[in-house]
Amino acid sequence: MKKLGVAVIGTGFWGRNHARIYKELKETELLAVCDIDAEKAKTVAKQFDVTPYTSIGKMLKRKDIEAVSICTWSTSLAKEAIKALKAGKHVLVEKPMAANVNQAEKLLKTTDKEGLHIMVGFLMRFIPGLQHIKKAIETKTLGEIVCATSKRVSQWPERIGDVGVVKDTAIHDIDIMRHLFSEDPIAVYAKAGSMRHKKFEDYAQIMLTFEGGKCAFIESNWLTPYKTRILTVTGSSSIMKLDYITQELTIESMKETVQPRYPWQEPLKLELQHFANCVLGKEKPLITGLDGLKALMIAEAALKSSATGKVVKLKN
Ligand SMILES: NC(=O)c1ccc[n+]([C@@H]2O[C@H](COP(=O)([O-])OP(=O)(O)OC[C@H]3O[C@@H](n4cnc5c(N)ncnc54)[C@H](O)[C@@H]3O)[C@@H](O)[C@H]2O)c1
Repeated sequence: MKKLGVAVIGTGFWGRNHARIYKELKETELLAVCDIDAEKAKTVAKQFDVTPYTSIGKMLKRKDIEAVSICTWSTSLAKEAIKALKAGKHVLVEKPMAANVNQAEKLLKTTDKEGLHIMVGFLMRFIPGLQHIKKAIETKTLGEIVCATSKRVSQWPERIGDVGVVKDTAIHDIDIMRHLFSEDPIAVYAKAGSMRHKKFEDYAQIMLTFEGGKCAFIESNWLTPYKTRILTVTGSSSIMKLDYITQELTIESMKETVQPRYPWQEPLKLELQHFANCVLGKEKPLITGLDGLKALMIAEAALKSSATGKVVKLKN
């Protein structure tokens, strides 16, 4: 079987996981890693027996590298992704894809021009329980969808990021709400603020409204002493709850409560396997660059709503 030659750019906490998984997958061959921090690049390269680089340009000249994961800081994701696309590489870019909508639009333009694959790291979509909920909405086994709420809260992160909690954390839930409702919200109202972070918001409550009065509520913060990541979807005939951490799914109806069992699976592994199979022409992309851009647009509208105290209407 032909393996896809891959490399990872940014070998911090998350990039190391990409490197490990590419090494494990039967579809991919990890060939190199790159980090501006030479020590990090060397350590990770040694761990996985591949070549370290500190210069992206030099690494991207390699013809055997066909696709890359971009796992640098959020504010440099788009810039590095554009370099990779211009060098002819398919790209898996971590969320939030870019620091802002302008950068994301430039990235999408380059992707179109180069005619290559781009996927954004919205790995929650690959959790089997989430896919069960999505199917139950589509087939109406849950009845008509009424609302969805999510809570993604935890302690202050160890690594101080370069974007706030909305673009770093709530962006996962913004993407999941678009995915579950199969449409874009028409308006956003949000309250966000900062209790501990000097530069960025560290808590946010976001309400998205969809056509016909359906709603989504997103709560996210870096101020809670324990880590919780849950989703509740209310339909006219049942309620579905997913714990993103344990991946337990609970379905409650008037008649019964059931817990369909899915074996726990590493979402990042499912995501990178799907990315490789898309590039190899075996699967159709579940996530596009446009999904990344739209999630960022909603995130920016939420921040604008919070700053102005007004509902922000979205043009779809
Ligand atoms: N999808 C998810 O659930 C998920 C989870 C964690 C992190 N992430 C994303 O992954 C990215 C990295 O997060 P992290 O926690 O690993 O951060 P980190 O600070 O641990 O690592 C970032 C690494 O990138 C390197 N770097 C920065 N700019 C670079 C450049 N231009 N070229 C090469 N290397 C560069 C840094 O030296 C560092 O080693 C972020 O965008 C974050 O949002 C996504």
